[in-house]
Amino acid sequence: MESLASVVLAAGKGTRMKSGLIKVLHPLAGVPMISWPVAAAREAGSDPIVLVIGHQANAVQGVFRGAADIRCAMQEDQLGTGHAVACALDALAGFRGTVLILCGDTPLLRSETLKNMLAYHRDNQATVTVLTALMDDPYGYGRVVRDPSGRVNRIVEQKDADPEEQKISEINSGIYCMDSDFLFNNIKGIGNDNAQGEYYLTDLLALAVRKGLTCLALPTADADKIMGINDRVQLARAGRILRSRINRDHMLNGVTIIDPDHTYIDHGVTIGADTTIHPGCQIGGGTVIGCGCEIEQGVSISGCRIGDDCHVKAASVLEDSELAEDVAIGPMAHLRPGTKLGRKVKIGNFVETKKIVMGEGSKASHLTYLGDAEIGRNVNIGCGTITCIYDGVNKHRTVLGDDVFIGSDVQLVAPVTVGRNSLVAAGTTVTIDVPPDSLALSRVPQVNKEGWRLKKR
Ligand code: UD1
Ligand code: CA
Repeated sequence: MESLASVVLAAGKGTRMKSGLIKVLHPLAGVPMISWPVAAAREAGSDPIVLVIGHQANAVQGVFRGAADIRCAMQEDQLGTGHAVACALDALAGFRGTVLILCGDTPLLRSETLKNMLAYHRDNQATVTVLTALMDDPYGYGRVVRDPSGRVNRIVEQKDADPEEQKISEINSGIYCMDSDFLFNNIKGIGNDNAQGEYYLTDLLALAVRKGLTCLALPTADADKIMGINDRVQLARAGRILRSRINRDHMLNGVTIIDPDHTYIDHGVTIGADTTIHPGCQIGGGTVIGCGCEIEQGVSISGCRIGDDCHVKAASVLEDSELAEDVAIGPMAHLRPGTKLGRKVKIGNFVETKKIVMGEGSKASHLTYLGDAEIGRNVNIGCGTITCIYDGVNKHRTVLGDDVFIGSDVQLVAPVTVGRNSLVAAGTTVTIDVPPDSLALSRVPQVNKEGWRLKKR
C-alpha cells in the first residue's frame, strides 16, 4: 500500500463552546473528542499522525502519551488552517505519499469514509481531493464553487462569500487528501488577504486548480459523519450518535439493551452475550461485564470487571471493583474502589464497601459499611454493621475468618480480627481480637424501671 500520513488540526480554542476546556478535549462517550478522528485516521492506515496543537497543548499531548504513531507540532498563534498545516511540515520531514488532512472537531468521522476518499483520490491520480457534502443549511461552512462543467474551482468561506455563493449548498467538510510534494512545495505560498485575515488551507485547492493539477471534490452521502462540533448543542448531538453506534455494536454481539436511547455505554466497554442492560445505566472506564448478567435501571459502573451471571440491582454505583460469578449487588449499593467479591457474594441495599476482599458465599444484606477489610468465605454480616477504620490519623484493617457470623448493629473497631467460625452477638462493639470458634458479646446490662412512664405523667 502507498504510504499515508495524517495531519489533524487541533490548535484552536473552540470559542463557541464557552468553556475553560478546549473543544477537542470535551469528552464524547468517555473519551476526548479528538480521539475519535485520530482513531479514524489510524484505521484508514495513516502513520504518522501529526497533531497540530496550540491551546492546552500539554493536555492534548497527554491524551496520546505512548502512542508511537503520534507526533505533535506546535502552532503558537492560530493564524488559520493553512498556517496550521504549515506548522506540521517539520514533523512530516522525509515523508512522501498522500497526506490526509482533517480537523480534531469531527468526532463522527469513520475510517470507511476516509478509505473511500483515498481510493477515489488514488484511482484518479488527483493532486488534491476535498470531501464535501450537500447541506440543507450550509451556513457557516466554506462553499464549494464549481465551474460550468462541474469541476471544482475553489472554496469560498462564509464570511467571504457573495450572495450568490452563499446559496451554494455543497460545503467543504475540512477533510482533504493531498499529494505530499504539492503540499510541501506550496503551503507557504498562500496569503491571508481575506475577510478574516487568516491563512486559509482552502486556498491551496484554488492554487492547484490554477496550476492545472487534478483537483477533485467528492460529495459524501452521509453529512452526519463529517459534522464539525462548534458548540454544546452539536456536542450533545454527536454524543447521541456515537452512543447509538456503540449500543448497536453491543446488541449485534448479543447484549439486550432495553432502551438504547437511554443507555450510556462509553467507548471501550466489553459486555458478554445474554446480558441485559436496563434503561438509565451509565457504564464506562473500560468495564468488562460477563455473560448472562442483569444490570438494572439507573446503575452506574466504572472501571469494573464483572463475572458471568451477576445481578446488579437498581441505582447501585460500582467503581473500580471486581466481581466473580453469580454475585448480587443492591439495590442502592455503593462499591467503591478496591472492592473484590468472590462467587455468590451478596451485597444488599444501602451497603457501602471500599478496599475489601470478600470470599465466596459471604453476605452483607443491609445497611452496612465495610472498608479496609479481609472477609473470608460464608461470612454473614448483619444489618447495621460498621467497620470503624479511621482513628483520625491512620486507617486500620479488619479481618473476619471463614464462617464468621456478625450479628446486627455491630461495630468492628479496627485493627481487629475475628477468628474463623466465631459469632459476634448483636449490638456488640468489638475492640479486641476474637479467637476462633468463640462468642463475642459486649453489651451494657439492660435496666427496666417498671411504672416509670405512669409516674412521669
Ligand atoms: C474550516 C474551513 C471551511 C470548512 C470548515 C469545516 C478553512 C479556511 N475553512 O472552517 O471551509 O467548511 O472548516 O468544518 O479552512 N485550527 C488550527 N489552527 C488555526 C485555525 C484552525 O489548528 O490557526 C483548527 C481548529 O482547532 C479546528 C480546525 O482547525 O479544529 C478548523 O478550524 P475552524 O476555525 O473551526 O474552521 P472553520 O471556520 O470551521
Ligand atoms: Ca469548525
